[in-house]
Amino acid sequence: MEKTYVITGATSGIGKALTEYFISKGNKVFAGYRDENKLKLLPEGVIPFYIDSMKSDSIEAAAKFIQSTTDSIDTLINVSGCVVAGAMEHLPVSELRRQFEVNVFAHIDLSQRLLPLLEGGRIINISSMSSFGIFPFIAPYSASKRALDIMFNAMGLEMKKNIKIISIKPGVIATPLWEKSIKENENGFSTCQDYQNEINFMVKNARTNGIKGLPAEKVVQIVVKADSARNPRPSYTVGLDAKAAELISHLPQGVLNKLIKYKLHQRTNA
Ligand SMILES: NC(=O)c1ccc[n+]([C@@H]2O[C@H](COP(=O)([O-])OP(=O)(O)OC[C@H]3O[C@@H](n4cnc5c(N)ncnc54)[C@H](OP(=O)(O)O)[C@@H]3O)[C@@H](O)[C@H]2O)c1
Repeated sequence: MEKTYVITGATSGIGKALTEYFISKGNKVFAGYRDENKLKLLPEGVIPFYIDSMKSDSIEAAAKFIQSTTDSIDTLINVSGCVVAGAMEHLPVSELRRQFEVNVFAHIDLSQRLLPLLEGGRIINISSMSSFGIFPFIAPYSASKRALDIMFNAMGLEMKKNIKIISIKPGVIATPLWEKSIKENENGFSTCQDYQNEINFMVKNARTNGIKGLPAEKVVQIVVKADSARNPRPSYTVGLDAKAAELISHLPQGVLNKLIKYKLHQRTNA
């Protein structure tokens, strides 16, 4: 039976893989893009809609467009995201705001507007293993994913509507996100001269992750599982690294900090 999906961040990586999968199964798919030049990357048959997480009027217009085109949505998949990285000592607050605007507030805004169409449906958020909060130098990203999880979980707990809310927490996935994050944070990194070893390690690691991570299709598999389960779990991890991150995050903070500092020292002084 044809279902209706709304997917943001559909022009790259995980969002693109999800869009390709759900359209290939004969569903109706609303596919969010922010860059017109990438429209050609969307598979035939999808209904594209413009949305830029940094522009609240575009979120309002996107919701209005979707509401004018369908009267129900089975699953909204909030995928779009970016990474703000660097040393907390130097990161400008404007960058922290940008991180939360894109990874948290835009998803809440779009979801709230679409809730009336989602009765009986699901909201699936692409969070991250970073939500477990164990990685230094990407604190803004980790905090944004944790905030996303907390706020949406609370929405699900509080809401009288019958809408299931699910968080997917992938480990490292080979997508363009990693190269984009190096580029987007270049200016920030240049103010971190006192952390040069750590930043060099982060950049090298990001490059490796962009190649050696799991394929986006692994995330698609878990999303499909969560989307089709009669009683989905509130949270799914993708990959052994995400499972390990979840386990380690249960250690007492003091022990965890010592472990992270030790590993970081080992890696940045190798
Ligand atoms: N890759 C990983 O290892 C990994 C792991 C865990 C979680 N995740 C999460 O998975 C999600 C998808 O990431 P990905 O790895 O597939 O990266 P990606 O290939 O860079 O895709 C990110 C998508 O978000 C869109 N986007 C970014 N900023 C936006 C904005 N201001 N307004 C609207 N759209 C915006 C991008 O648009 P453009 O196509 O125009 O750039 C792109 O379509 C993200 O939320 C990310 O945090 C990724």
